[in-house]
Amino acid sequence: MAVITSLITQNPIKITQVTDTHLYGKPSGTLLKMNTNETLNHVIELVKQNEEEIDLVLATGDIAQDASEKAYQNFLDTVAKLDAPFRWIPGNHDSAKVMSRIAGGTETGEKTAQLNNWLIILLDSSILGQAHGKLNKTELIFLRSVLRAAEQDETIDHCLLTMHHNPVPGNSAWMRDIGLENGQEFFDIIKMSSKVRCVLYGHIHQELDFKHEGVRCFCTPSTCIQFKPKVTSFSLDRVNPGYRSLQLYADGSIESEVRRVSGEIFEADYNSPGY
Ligand SMILES: [Fe+2]
Repeated sequence: MAVITSLITQNPIKITQVTDTHLYGKPSGTLLKMNTNETLNHVIELVKQNEEEIDLVLATGDIAQDASEKAYQNFLDTVAKLDAPFRWIPGNHDSAKVMSRIAGGTETGEKTAQLNNWLIILLDSSILGQAHGKLNKTELIFLRSVLRAAEQDETIDHCLLTMHHNPVPGNSAWMRDIGLENGQEFFDIIKMSSKVRCVLYGHIHQELDFKHEGVRCFCTPSTCIQFKPKVTSFSLDRVNPGYRSLQLYADGSIESEVRRVSGEIFEADYNSPGY
């Protein structure tokens, strides 16, 4: 297991998460009538207004809706405006293959980053052609080995794990089958580590901050459409796109906020029965 990037930086460490951008090769592309390129640009502007000295930007999947090279290139060009180190992981709408081809030779697709005494671990939970997720055998071996190495490493005190899918079932009945299939196995593995502080994800397009099995879990709103929580069938929420900022402290504590675009009304098909 190689921790490729290691950086001494400020305390707290500043992370910005953008997720579920659902971009198309054509910038005019819309998801349930919402122009995803336009909403991403609004969110990136909001990040620029609010965040200074970002140590790491994490893009946690569903970056492209059509898995096209153009969509990924557009995303990279847009995120470059933040002028910060950057990592991405695939979601259910992405092509992990196309992403790794585009990221080839850069740090974008690396699976770990050490910032001060925190280790950030990025996991691929996507299954080609499926909405739900799973950590496959390779990812589980990687997770076990990286946590075991971190446990022995005196320079690492805390770990943040991130993936696209929700490892804890969503709070709406229609979401029951779209989360991480082996969520319990995931938590059983991370329980063996004394250093895991936080699990960060996207996929269910809403803001959540709770504890599960003693670990702080965060879900982050999409940069486009939002899913209404606690409903039986699919329903869009009338709240604006946003992002999450996290401050990771040397003592293991975490502060985090979701910020949403304000002063704009974005069109969407609020009566759609699905997406
Ligand atoms: Fe999504």
